[in-house]
Amino acid sequence: MSSVRCRSLLSWYQLNARSLPWRETDEPYKIWVSEIMLQQTQVKTVLPRYLDWFDQFPTIVALAATSTDDVLKAWEGLGYYRRARFIHQAAQQIIVEHQGRFPTAFDAILALPGIGRSTAGAISAFCFGTATPVLDGNVKRVLKRWHGQVDASDKQLWSLAQQAIDKSGEPASWNQAMMELGATLCSAKSADCDACPVNENCVSAFQVVYADESRKAVPVRNVHWQVHLHTCPEKGIWLTRRPDSGIWAGLWTPPIIEMNSTPDITPAYIHQLTHRRLYLYPLLSDQNPQGEGRWVQSIEGYALPTGIHRLLEKVA
Ligand code: ADE
Repeated sequence: MSSVRCRSLLSWYQLNARSLPWRETDEPYKIWVSEIMLQQTQVKTVLPRYLDWFDQFPTIVALAATSTDDVLKAWEGLGYYRRARFIHQAAQQIIVEHQGRFPTAFDAILALPGIGRSTAGAISAFCFGTATPVLDGNVKRVLKRWHGQVDASDKQLWSLAQQAIDKSGEPASWNQAMMELGATLCSAKSADCDACPVNENCVSAFQVVYADESRKAVPVRNVHWQVHLHTCPEKGIWLTRRPDSGIWAGLWTPPIIEMNSTPDITPAYIHQLTHRRLYLYPLLSDQNPQGEGRWVQSIEGYALPTGIHRLLEKVA
């Protein structure tokens, strides 16, 4: 890729970039939270939650001092709650190991919980100007198309990403531009090659073969869950905390029993996760609840998965 091509992508980005709050700052705490929220979650979902986050946790010190429950609650609706636990653990690690200041060295950033090479690359480039590439799903797709290598390995893609950012001369804008291209003109569902600033040297321009790209789609397993709703006017609803690992780890839900076979009834709600499709069947119970848990008058203060919120709205 020539530096002329780099320039046209950078110019396109300057002219077309969406205005997003994390693009107006180079403060590590702000960038870090944005990058974690944006892993696997769309910009439009993240936007309102991002601003709220800093009202609630204005500094890393404030975040570290919060209970895990309150952090999970603040993450409600964003999904992939492991990220919230990691953010919280990382904040505590920053207090202990870096005197409460976000580390500046790439390896120290990478050593924080929940931060892989791509996220560390983004944070380091945006905050400290290093030529460290982002390689998330969007950027991978852009590079594969650009070089006509649908089957490229991650190792090959890291190498292509590094060469490109080194040539760009503007690593922070380069990373943003590659992500922006992947999120807009060069998305998984369509490629607007007419409008693309790099169509002249893209191997796949005007001939993207979507079928080739989706060959390795991960299989989704169906799971049927009976959700036991113990409610009573005086005590509220019985909730239990999910185990620390697995689906909805650490969140609060009514007791859930996995069903062995597909029931004949229609599920009240179907919730799609990356590798699982959850079919939820409410079971109203007037029995005394068994096992660990607590009666809760109002679910307001508890982090419940979106799927359970939807189910409760349906049966309420
Ligand atoms: N996805 C991940 N990082 C992003 C960023 N900085 N801007 C927009 N989308 C992103």
